[in-house]
Amino acid sequence: MPADSFVTQLNEQIGHEFAAHQQYVAIAVHYDAETLPQLARFFYRQALEERDHAMMMIQYLVDADAEVVVPGVTAPQTTFADIVAPVALALDQEKRVSEQINGLAATARDAGDFTSEQFTQWFIKEQVEEVATMSDLLRVVERSKDDPMDIENFMAREHAAAAAADPTAPHPAGAG
Ligand SMILES: [Fe+2]
Ligand SMILES: [Fe+2]
Repeated sequence: MPADSFVTQLNEQIGHEFAAHQQYVAIAVHYDAETLPQLARFFYRQALEERDHAMMMIQYLVDADAEVVVPGVTAPQTTFADIVAPVALALDQEKRVSEQINGLAATARDAGDFTSEQFTQWFIKEQVEEVATMSDLLRVVERSKDDPMDIENFMAREHAAAAAADPTAPHPAGAG
């Protein structure tokens, strides 16, 4: 059994991941409405990744016979001042999640729950990548904010395809 403190905190994290999913859908819809399809596609894809994170955490709890609390989430931000604002919001969100995941690892370690601590390791690595991707994107949109087609070309070039499946990733509940 995972430590109670870890189960409680992981259930909260499931809520944060679903909230991130909703936020990225909202950002994608915003860019779609602005006819920026490459940015939209990137955020639709990011949204799916966040859902997968939540479902990986759910699978972990199910496998461990621990209680899963499927959360409600607060509504995402849906209006944005300019082309940069959604990416800035996304970067803040990823940085916050990195802290939350580190907190999960710390809770598992404090409780002597090494199985759960190991479970958090993949997410720690994932957050390093997500923060790096969003920081890069923020630099690009800030530099080219007056020329959205530059940003669209960058997205088409650098983020055309979904990342290859990561064989080390935890299994999302209900997937295949
Ligand atoms: Fe996530
Ligand atoms: Fe993320």
